Amino acid sequence: MIDDHGSEVSGGTDGGAGSARPADAGSRSAFWEGVHHGKDVDGVSWWQSVPGLSLGLVDSTGLGREEPIIDVGAGWSTLVDHLVERGHRDLTAVDLSVTALRTVRERLGDAGEGVTLTPADVLDLHLGRDYALWHDRAVYHFLTEPGERDDYRASLERHLRPDGRLVVATFGPDGPTTCSGLPIVRYTHAELAAEFPGFELVDTAGEEHRTPWGAAQQFTAVLMRRRAG
Ligand SMILES: C[S@@+](CC[C@H](N)C(=O)[O-])C[C@H]1O[C@@H](n2cnc3c(N)ncnc32)[C@H](O)[C@@H]1O
Repeated sequence: MIDDHGSEVSGGTDGGAGSARPADAGSRSAFWEGVHHGKDVDGVSWWQSVPGLSLGLVDSTGLGREEPIIDVGAGWSTLVDHLVERGHRDLTAVDLSVTALRTVRERLGDAGEGVTLTPADVLDLHLGRDYALWHDRAVYHFLTEPGERDDYRASLERHLRPDGRLVVATFGPDGPTTCSGLPIVRYTHAELAAEFPGFELVDTAGEEHRTPWGAAQQFTAVLMRRRAG
């Protein structure tokens, strides 16, 4: 659990005012803390009370309730809440924003006993344990530099079991070109799957997400399985 010390454009579009791109760990952390600080949960475009696309793919894996699951760049997503409700007992949510994680902790209350909330950078993640499923909605698409994507894959490989599952969702080819004022990379299913060469594609899905202010955003998602060995 996190301890106690520990932009989005509300009402507008995802275009933002063109924030300077945070390229190092310190500025990334400050940027994302600023995005969450002082906002209500539905003050960010990606908010959804039921993360249907993610839940559908996670449920389809049939993972046992004791199998460990990690949600990276979890923000204040309700994914962990829904997984707790389904009986999952070993859940970790990682995010750069302490404010976002604190919101999750307060929302979960006693139900959050089996949920570890960890402020950390997914580009340099060292949790010292591994997971049966890695979930990411709307983080990978911020990685516009090849080196960042290499760092992400290194974190993924350090934390996912052989044969582990990967669920990644990004903006689709007809989705917005920016998010929180930052440039993003849009992916087709095939392009997204090709980003993870050590994995085989199991399933694809997509959704037209409605932001809290009614704008449509196309999401692409893949479920992949790590090739053992
Ligand atoms: C677009 S939001 C998506 C949040 C959540 N996955 C959801 O679907 O509601 C991106 C989230 O990733 C976090 N984030 C961005 N870069 C990160 C990084 N390098 N490491 C960890 N978290 C990061 C942000 O703080 C933010 O909460």
